[in-house]
Amino acid sequence: MLHKRLGAAELTIPEIGLGTWQYRGSVQALRKGIELGARFIDTAEAYGTESFVGEVIRGIRNQVFLATKASPWNFRREDIYHAANRSLQALKTDYIDLYQLHWPNSTIPIEETMGAMEELVNQGKIRFIGVSNFSLGELQRAQSVLHRSRIASNQVRYNLVDRSAEVGLLEYCQQNKITLIAYSPLARGMHAMRKNDPAGVLRTVAAETGRTEAQVALNWCIARDSVVAIPKADSVEHIEENCRASDWRLTQEQIALLNKEIRYRQRGRVEAVLRRVARNTLQRLGRV
Ligand SMILES: NC(=O)c1ccc[n+]([C@@H]2O[C@H](COP(=O)([O-])OP(=O)(O)OC[C@H]3O[C@@H](n4cnc5c(N)ncnc54)[C@H](OP(=O)(O)O)[C@@H]3O)[C@@H](O)[C@H]2O)c1
Repeated sequence: MLHKRLGAAELTIPEIGLGTWQYRGSVQALRKGIELGARFIDTAEAYGTESFVGEVIRGIRNQVFLATKASPWNFRREDIYHAANRSLQALKTDYIDLYQLHWPNSTIPIEETMGAMEELVNQGKIRFIGVSNFSLGELQRAQSVLHRSRIASNQVRYNLVDRSAEVGLLEYCQQNKITLIAYSPLARGMHAMRKNDPAGVLRTVAAETGRTEAQVALNWCIARDSVVAIPKADSVEHIEENCRASDWRLTQEQIALLNKEIRYRQRGRVEAVLRRVARNTLQRLGRV
């Protein structure tokens, strides 16, 4: 398993981690992933999988890079302390490696939230601060209110058929030593990718490399500088397959072919702003 540096930290993390949203597999399956080098588990208080992850890491806590997330309705100072304590308890650990803000919350001043995150670092409850679903502007603003820390990562959707992160965000992360954690790297299963691959280039590249289509799709993500991916898989077979998406690289020609032939969505800045306005309005109305 190849590793990448986490943000600007003196620490590396596996380029394939284990997602746990809607995870329905066994403890043994995730343990297999850890054995194969995917020593990086992603969860969130909103997933309802933290207690389960606590079981998975029992006895091997210090071998695993553990990432979880606080939900946006908990971004007030006191609420975030409570949320972190609940997560620590559910995970049965005394520190979280990467604590992420799950979505931006425009109704709570980011200064207050980030102040609380820095306090959690001071207390040794969390090691690194991350964000998720933050636009470029939201990421820059969040970094600007931190006093002693740097944002280590931004977790966003990134895959062969949704390349919105390439509209400014990915390049900024690469230039500013922020890890981009690609979620839904398989586009939630391979169907959407196959549907958008009329020329069948995934199959062609898989045959050329002797890998599977899912491995090609994951390798396409992690071939980018500063990008790691966290696929979710319930079965041992899929977990093994995903772990073996590391340790090799697609050629530039293969990447160019995938880029050219697979149809993808790339939300422009205007669409991203409209979506943000809609989300902020719902948050002000207390709907999300
Ligand atoms: N920050 C956020 O807002 C956010 C949002 C979404 C997701 N995430 C994180 O990202 C993780 C992954 O994203 P995701 O669950 O949305 O989607 P994903 O990883 O792109 O896709 C998961 C789906 O792909 C299937 N799959 C896994 N490995 C496969 C393989 N080798 N071949 C074929 N199919 C395979 C899984 O089936 P099986 O389970 O049956 O193997 C499952 O149906 C989540 O678990 C979560 O940790 C974060």
